[in-house]
Amino acid sequence: MKDFTDRVAVVTGAASGIGLAAANRFADEGMKVVLADIESEPLAMAEAAIRARGSTAIAVRTNVMSEEAVNKLADAAFGAFGNVHIVFNNAGVAATAATLRARAWEGPLADWDWTLGVNFMGVLYGVRAFVPRMLENGEEGHIVNTASMAGLLTGANPYNVSKHGVVCLTEGIYKDFREMSAKISASVLCPGLINTSILDAERNRDEGFGAKTKVQELRPEVQQFAAGFEAALKAGYPPEYVAEAVFNAIRDDQFYVFPAQPNVLESVRVRMTDIIEQRNPTAR
Ligand SMILES: NC(=O)c1ccc[n+]([C@@H]2O[C@H](COP(=O)([O-])OP(=O)(O)OC[C@H]3O[C@@H](n4cnc5c(N)ncnc54)[C@H](O)[C@@H]3O)[C@@H](O)[C@H]2O)c1
Repeated sequence: MKDFTDRVAVVTGAASGIGLAAANRFADEGMKVVLADIESEPLAMAEAAIRARGSTAIAVRTNVMSEEAVNKLADAAFGAFGNVHIVFNNAGVAATAATLRARAWEGPLADWDWTLGVNFMGVLYGVRAFVPRMLENGEEGHIVNTASMAGLLTGANPYNVSKHGVVCLTEGIYKDFREMSAKISASVLCPGLINTSILDAERNRDEGFGAKTKVQELRPEVQQFAAGFEAALKAGYPPEYVAEAVFNAIRDDQFYVFPAQPNVLESVRVRMTDIIEQRNPTAR
């Protein structure tokens, strides 16, 4: 995409972190932004802040775990502005850093339902709600789906598995768009460590998806990992750095967007080499 002024961007998870920074970045380009998030109060604050700068923004409270809610978000966006040009399927959760070291046979299955429900099904619902109408309108457009470096690295936990799904889905839709000679393109966003509120994601965990993680009841090495990971995340890149990478990728039609620390990228290289050379997975 080359023209942004007066075009329409929809951002999920827009009330905080990467989504909020991206919504602001799109508004900087003169785009109209549709902000979607499950958290009403910060969502209203994000909307007010963008409007206060003189940009056009509407907020639609949305739980991306619900297909119906995501379809309503699409109805609201197309209803308000007639078309949508950028969809940033970005809302995501991680049930504390500790779950990144959870073992698949331990812990509540509800962690899997919740994490896959938001991180993977939420993205799929976004693709299904917006792409057909964008294709029908025939204007240029771009879908950006937020995965993670966790989508390129492995671990038998719901977060990594959900993000692998997003990488796979997004590569697939990119190929479909090219096969159809569509005017829409796609990118997958795989951030490294970014200083946001992601490790406080259980603030949005509905009771129906199990109790919040009690880190103090986990194996000592998991507790230790969680503390180290939290500190690394706080020292991570700011969300504005990611927003800039996302904007540049849309403008330049770049598929893989990797705002990630060099040591994380090195771990990806090791894994890819394991696969190509058919070595057994390199241990952590
Ligand atoms: N922070 C990182 O280091 C990092 C790294 C890689 C990937 N990511 C991914 O980036 C994305 C954005 O996360 P962030 O780091 O900005 O965290 P964040 O917690 O600051 O923002 C996430 C937003 O998503 C919203 N959200 C949560 N569940 C929702 C739901 N069911 N429906 C709608 N909105 C919901 C939250 O309310 C919040 O506003 C996520 O997909 C996350 O997995 C983050």
